[in-house]
Amino acid sequence: MLPVNFPSAFCALVWYSLSTSVGCKGLEKYRIKGGVRLSGAVDISGAKNAVVAILPAVILSDEPCRIENIPHISDVSTSLKILEKLGAKVEHIDPHTVEIDPRTVDKIEVDHDLAKSMRASYYFIGALLGKTGSARVPMPGGCWFGERPIDLHLKGFHALGAESVQLEDGIIEMHAEQLLGNSVYLDTVSVGATVNIMLASVRVRGMTVIENAAKEPHIVDLANFLNTMGADIRGAGTDVIKIRGVQQLYGATYSIIPDQIEAGTYMAMAAATGGDVLVRNVIPKHLESITTKLDEMGARIEEMDDAIRVRCEGPLHCCNIKTMPHPGFPTDMQPQIAVLLSIADGTSTITEGVWENRFRYTEELQKMGAQVEVDGNRATFNGIEKLTAATVKAVDLRAGAAMVIAGLVADGVTEIEDIRYIERGYEDIIEKLSRLGAKVERVSD
Ligand code: EPZ
Repeated sequence: MLPVNFPSAFCALVWYSLSTSVGCKGLEKYRIKGGVRLSGAVDISGAKNAVVAILPAVILSDEPCRIENIPHISDVSTSLKILEKLGAKVEHIDPHTVEIDPRTVDKIEVDHDLAKSMRASYYFIGALLGKTGSARVPMPGGCWFGERPIDLHLKGFHALGAESVQLEDGIIEMHAEQLLGNSVYLDTVSVGATVNIMLASVRVRGMTVIENAAKEPHIVDLANFLNTMGADIRGAGTDVIKIRGVQQLYGATYSIIPDQIEAGTYMAMAAATGGDVLVRNVIPKHLESITTKLDEMGARIEEMDDAIRVRCEGPLHCCNIKTMPHPGFPTDMQPQIAVLLSIADGTSTITEGVWENRFRYTEELQKMGAQVEVDGNRATFNGIEKLTAATVKAVDLRAGAAMVIAGLVADGVTEIEDIRYIERGYEDIIEKLSRLGAKVERVSD
């Protein structure tokens, strides 16, 4: 067994048990005193949307895997707990590294409460189906943006030969006597369906072709991890992914890519506060659409190999944004950039091109004085001089990040409730912001 560095493994275990058992109750909140220009450097953590796909993928291996650069977020601790309840052995090597042995997985049903606490729990369907031919997984929870169907996931599983049994209280049960490679066209570009079909098909005899596939960085990261284990996946990052099934997958050591959206969020914070921030441990290519828009709004962006410096002296300029699947402007940066448009010169618009209802957070921004009107999938912002502090809610993960940005720029002390959403996706956000000079604290009612 691998040598375990006890002290760091111990503190990782403490974090892990706390974040799964105690977590942050609904009564905890952030308190932010606005008006500070952020300055200094921030290190970006591993990508949430990559790690929540890669952890279930370990089930497909015939040997233990070591995953590095995992972020300290509750979606990770939940995924690890699901793996343990399925029978896998999880060992914390250090605060950002786990070793998972899937050889002892002996169940096909995912814990109901854990599945409901995040969106990506449904990736265990593809992984369990691909490894065992069966899966029983409750409909996932996660952020609400209106209807979040899974018809394209099921279309992919059925194309491979699986039968689905929709049981009472929303449990999805899939069985397959034999899975065979097939072609699947995704009517809508879907990250989740692309991930799930990849997971279900990687050990399936024959060729599976996913057409109109999602191209996000986390799709490529999953494909790279699976190929490191011995899979044969080509085309990830394009809209046609070809997966030639293999009979065996081997143990691997793999490091998660930096989080594109966490990086974009800190870039937006730097621009919003008129600061000067070096955002380190990034892949600039993943941030091109965000960099382009911040530049258009008047920020000064300097790209290095694995870092981006964001400065902003003058006022922000208005602009129009349309969110699209990658490489378009990411929908997961939509609420954050909306805060900048709320205080930019002139009138700006955001057109939401992915989700049917991702503007709920604007009601919270209006409590802080933002002049914003929502009409269907378009929001129009008339920029104002300053936001005013208020008590607001994090209505979902990225909306919560937007409230943090609003608190950083508002006059006075803003309190943000329901911070559990934020801590699903942002590692050590209070510590990282404090190191940038922000006046933020986490308090309990
Ligand atoms: C992933 O969600 C991300 N979550 C979301 O990030 C992100 O907003 C989204 O991709 C788009 O980039 C994770 O990766 C864990 P989709 P997912 O399937 O997979 C429709 C965050 O903040 N659709 O790409 O659920 C769907 O309604 C989270 O980190 C179907 O019609 O999104 C939507 O309109 C929030 N049928 C569009 O496709 C399906 O079967 C894109 O959804 C599946 C999706």
